[in-house]
Amino acid sequence: MRVGRVLLGLAAVVVLGGGAFLALAWRPAIDPVEPPDRASFDPARMTKGAELAAVGDCGRCHTVEGGAAYAGGYPLATPFGTIYATNITPDPETGIGRWSEAAFRRAMREGVDREGRHLYPAFPYDHFAKASDEDLTAVYAFLMTRDPVRATAPPNELPFPYNVRLLLAGWNLLFLDKAPFRPDPGQDAARNRGAYLAESLGHCGACHTPRNKLGAEEKDRPYAGGEAEGWHAPALDASSPAPVRWTEADLFAYLRTGFSERHGLAAGPMGPVARNLAAVPEADVRAIAGYVASLAGPPAPDQDRRAEVTVASAEQRALPFPGTAASEGDDPGAAVFASACATCHHAGAGPPFVRPVPLALSSVVTGPDPRNLVRIILDGIRPPEGEAGPMMPGFAGALTDQQVTALVAYVRSHFASAAAWEGAADRVREIRQEGRPA
Ligand code: HEC
Ligand code: HEC
Ligand code: HEC
Repeated sequence: MRVGRVLLGLAAVVVLGGGAFLALAWRPAIDPVEPPDRASFDPARMTKGAELAAVGDCGRCHTVEGGAAYAGGYPLATPFGTIYATNITPDPETGIGRWSEAAFRRAMREGVDREGRHLYPAFPYDHFAKASDEDLTAVYAFLMTRDPVRATAPPNELPFPYNVRLLLAGWNLLFLDKAPFRPDPGQDAARNRGAYLAESLGHCGACHTPRNKLGAEEKDRPYAGGEAEGWHAPALDASSPAPVRWTEADLFAYLRTGFSERHGLAAGPMGPVARNLAAVPEADVRAIAGYVASLAGPPAPDQDRRAEVTVASAEQRALPFPGTAASEGDDPGAAVFASACATCHHAGAGPPFVRPVPLALSSVVTGPDPRNLVRIILDGIRPPEGEAGPMMPGFAGALTDQQVTALVAYVRSHFASAAAWEGAADRVREIRQEGRPA
């Protein structure tokens, strides 16, 4: 009797709770509109929208290699499964051609599509929520004036329960902060502009902030280092592994060209981010650089001198060509380095653009995670199709797992003098098994 009543009570709680959750989670569809006429959009606003779309990296996720721009289909591997970015060209059937601006804005701010379905936060709407009305209007104008493309993204590959979109309402309740960006009155306009762009459309934290088990950014550890597509995205706060502290000038060069003489090259997912930022007004990139430089706190008074010392010692650490290191003669990693790497990564002058930045200056070598180094060794570095840029051959075919593991250990101890990475051999095996990216 008693047990029966308790069970009944429990059932009532579950039903009521479930009902309340459904009421909270349910979002109405927004009526479709006739696809707006291109001529109805102000050209200046479209240009602005193009720049903001570049800051927001929309094209990277919403375009497959060799495919039509913004037509979707790009697979995003997440710890929960693969999510495909959708078609955001103004095609009325398969894209967002029938989306009103209100529907677009709701998707960007709340992660809900026109028909009321919740979107996965692999789409960084938790950052886009901070974008101003004006900027979202401009991005809408830009997208709605692209060429419509008929294309449907493949269905997501997510196991139960992650395939239940309604559960994302709970995620939003816990993690989505819909408050607009608040400028810091103690900072000047440029710093606030940089913070705004980085936090909102730029979504730098989506990759550079660690995430919790539910895939949300850890709000109390902003920019403490995260990951993107199997790469480590280094910390940008005071825990940055960069041997030379990132200055605003270094960051400006890196963000705009993907390369800094005192740090190295954006060789992974950061490469496309930088290529996009090359199309953004210089003042905006400088503002982002200023904001990011400030994340590590005020610079030390002797920062410039320290940087010079670090650069000089990194140069010294590089081995003379042809790179036979007598003292490390019986280290198998040193032997691999001497034969496979030292032709390019050696000390002293070399032909311009051929001799890379000293390895001892790179976060790839000094950072807490071996994955970026393993990927660079196995896959090499290639500029995007049809563009010129630094190149490094991949060694997946030339070196065994044991050789790569020994090489990684050697590079770490010789160039970073840091503690050996744990689990490097496993990383080598895992990354090799992924196969070479297309
Ligand atoms: C990190 C990758 C990524 C970036 C960057 C990104 N998106 Fe997306 N976007 C996605 C994914 C993935 C989805 C699909 C989510 C889903 O299926 O739940 C999506 C969905 C959308 C949707 C909903 C479309 C629909 O048919 O439901 C819109 C609108 C959108 N994105 C606009 C943008 C804009 C505008 C930008 C740039 C400011 C942008 N996205 C940048 C990954 C991204
Ligand atoms: C044919 C020349 C060449 C060879 C051989 C070569 N590299 Fe590279 N490497 C480059 C270039 C060019 C870059 C990119 C430019 C830069 O970092 O300044 C690069 C970049 C790197 C980076 C990233 C540094 C950064 O920019 O942050 C690492 C790490 C690296 N190489 C390690 C290796 C290792 C280990 C080997 C041997 C298996 C090797 N490289 C062989 C040319 C080469
Ligand atoms: C798609 C994920 C992603 C986004 C978005 C992203 N980054 Fe990165 N970033 C990376 C990864 C991964 C690396 C490691 C190097 C690489 O990819 O070549 C990196 C490297 C960097 C570095 C070099 C750090 C070091 O010590 O070597 C800086 C600086 C940086 N990013 C700044 C930014 C800023 C500023 C933004 C926003 C405008 C941003 N990133 C957005 C993934 C991302």
